[in-house]
Amino acid sequence: QITDCLCRYKNYNFGIGLTTPEHIDSLQSFEIRDSDVLLVTYPKSGTIWTQQIIISICESAGGLHEYPNNLEQMPWLEYTEGRGDYALRPSPRLFSSHLTPALLPPGLKAKKAKIIYVTRNPKDNIVSYFHFSGNSGDLETPKSFEDFFEQYVTGNVGASSWFDHIRDWHSKRDQYNILFLSYEDMILDLKEAVTKICHFLGKNLSDAAVEQVVEKSTFKTMKKDVKANYEFLPEEKVKKDFMRKGKIGDWKNTLTEAQSQRDLDMLISNFYERHRHNNVKSF
Ligand code: PPS
Repeated sequence: QITDCLCRYKNYNFGIGLTTPEHIDSLQSFEIRDSDVLLVTYPKSGTIWTQQIIISICESAGGLHEYPNNLEQMPWLEYTEGRGDYALRPSPRLFSSHLTPALLPPGLKAKKAKIIYVTRNPKDNIVSYFHFSGNSGDLETPKSFEDFFEQYVTGNVGASSWFDHIRDWHSKRDQYNILFLSYEDMILDLKEAVTKICHFLGKNLSDAAVEQVVEKSTFKTMKKDVKANYEFLPEEKVKKDFMRKGKIGDWKNTLTEAQSQRDLDMLISNFYERHRHNNVKSF
């Protein structure tokens, strides 16, 4: 156990109360179907946003069994709460996860199921994570931003280190059928991101249908969306403001010059050194 809210299992930090070691182990024998779609993110990187896009695309293309909200439509593989028997779900099944490759079902490596991985620059990520930690009943409220900063750069937060997560997924990219997207690219050109996801999922939508998906997925629309803000959950789970700011560069209002130049710049430059070929824009 790391804190009152976090424990470490198999080199990865989980929220206590969200899952169990037995459940994580059971994922090793979870059967993956060719038609499965899995969204993977480090926390606070644009998960609910990409869920909204994927679900809207699949709804528009037809043939999707509909569930009442994003949480049930694209459930987290690793969480035990509210878990259904996913083996009984009709295809195509949509899932979400914050896990690293080793903890996920090995069947994903057969390269048939599709994985979408969304990354977000760590400076905005840390600020979003800081605010969410204060607003989520499952996480410890940070004493201060400074304190949270130290925990984050040392990987002592849920999902462990941003850097390890991203390096792990990028270095194993050849083993999976995977599309890498960045939060920043999605902000800069949402239509382009929606179009890329459509192609990857093999869904042929008309231009008007793509525009509709874009409209449903803008920050402005989602900010007013009760489901996207998890307002259907008890208040102690997500207290407020899931859709907080939705911006690139908001970190400038929180990080000190020293914090900005210290570990995060080192993490970013290490990462982009190694993954230049991925053509992820800098920020
Ligand atoms: S979680 O808890 O890990 O599932 O959180 P996650 O959904 O990954 O990340 C939440 C942040 O994503 C922002 N967000 C958006 N930004 C732009 N456009 C849209 N449509 C959108 N939807 C969600 C959300 O506001 C959180 O970022 P911050 O910086 O805190 O605002």
